[in-house]
Amino acid sequence: MTKQPLLVIAHRGAKGEAPENTLAAFRLGLEQGCDAIELDIHLSKDGEIVVIHDETMNRTTDISGKVNELTLAELKQADAGRWFHEKYAGERVPLLEEVFDLVPKNVMINVEIKNSYGRKLEPALVELMRRKNRIQNVVVSSFDHKCLLFLKLLEPEIKIGLLYDFTPGQHNQLAAGLGTPVYSLHPKHTRIVAEDVREAVAHGLRVFAYTVNDEENMAKLIDYGVSGIITDYPGKLRTLLSYTAS
Ligand code: G3P
Ligand code: MG
Repeated sequence: MTKQPLLVIAHRGAKGEAPENTLAAFRLGLEQGCDAIELDIHLSKDGEIVVIHDETMNRTTDISGKVNELTLAELKQADAGRWFHEKYAGERVPLLEEVFDLVPKNVMINVEIKNSYGRKLEPALVELMRRKNRIQNVVVSSFDHKCLLFLKLLEPEIKIGLLYDFTPGQHNQLAAGLGTPVYSLHPKHTRIVAEDVREAVAHGLRVFAYTVNDEENMAKLIDYGVSGIITDYPGKLRTLLSYTAS
């Protein structure tokens, strides 16, 4: 099998240098040459898929309350940038649809499901991905592997990625145990066993490690042969890769 180049995956956009999960953070990730963007989604009270990490607005906006108890119109009132830096005042919580419109199709999007909201989120996500022609270049990941199974039932072509924060007997076996094709493994980087990365990749899986912000660990994972690194600093990883290539 031909070795694929390692993907630079911007975590919540370029989270280290811009307010996470905003269009500004995604634009910065793109400017820094990321190959993919990771983001987190929730469902608003009126069933819209919005991009935010927490279940509440409290930490990353200037309003409080649960995302799922606010309508889209209410969520859009909130400022999602000023808490990070004054220059980002006016940033809003984006709809996933807005991110699909912003990001070129050659940049992969890793959509992380944080909460399925009683299995209401998955059908809404599949509908949006079909409507925006995003079945092929999105990978949907979650710590809730049952939610990924449900997505596969709704849309067999969808790419799914298993998130986990433990060291399985073998990373490859974790995917095999799901009983449906898995596109990628998304282990916490401290949980990775080097030989298992090689075995998983040899079985056609991609291994995307999260969340790695220092060069020492980035270099170690590059050496392990991971398929991608999820980082708050995509520019830093891009620079490191340019050195290791030369
Ligand atoms: O998808 C990798 C990573 O984002 C998982 O953790 O909490 O940063 O969403 P979290
Ligand atoms: Mg995430």
